[in-house]
Amino acid sequence: MKVKARFVTSAAKPEDFPPEDLPELAVVGRSNVGKSSLINALVGQPIARTSRTPGRTRLINWFEINQRFHLVDLPGYGYAEVSRELRDSWRPLIESFLTTRATLAGVVLLIDIRRGAEDEELDFVAWLDQRGTPATIVLTKADKLAKAKRMLEITKVKHALGLREDPIAVSAQTGDGVDPLWRAVLAQIERT
Ligand code: GTP
Ligand code: MG
Repeated sequence: MKVKARFVTSAAKPEDFPPEDLPELAVVGRSNVGKSSLINALVGQPIARTSRTPGRTRLINWFEINQRFHLVDLPGYGYAEVSRELRDSWRPLIESFLTTRATLAGVVLLIDIRRGAEDEELDFVAWLDQRGTPATIVLTKADKLAKAKRMLEITKVKHALGLREDPIAVSAQTGDGVDPLWRAVLAQIERT
């Protein structure tokens, strides 16, 4: 699938958020989980900056996709190597985004397939549920596990988070799972 993607803008504070003119899907998850890499895999071009150093994405970044919706790359939460100060400064920004945007169609929550759902993810999914924000759960870096172990983790996360559907296992490296994720993303946008 040919995707037309362009960088729109970055914001370090709510005053800099762009106009609410297209539905938005927010990509969220721990620092280093692979948010920016997955955006690049989805659009088939290196549009979002990635790094081995956790905490690479410090701003909220908007990408316009097919002139139809925005993928929004959020800074990662809860990574030990990022100083507490930095993390605490991001939280209000992320929360402000998730609670104020009239255009927020949903959230794509990324979880490292090797870590599974931890307290932060359980809390976050409960919070989204309460707010009625639709969430697609994605397990990243699937290439790091053999097939059988992958299946096991998919089931574990499904049960831990009380999901109706299986989380989608993807690899930005091999492209595994990118097509099913596209279908889920489009379905989420179509619902708006
Ligand atoms: P922050 O912006 O710091 O929150 O990180 P991020 O969630 O955007 O992660 P990013 O995409 O920058 O990737 C972090 C590291 O994980 C990089 O070294 C990537 O190459 C690696 N990575 C991302 N996706 C995959 C994947 O599917 N497989 C493997 N093996 N490595 C991956
Ligand atoms: Mg990033």
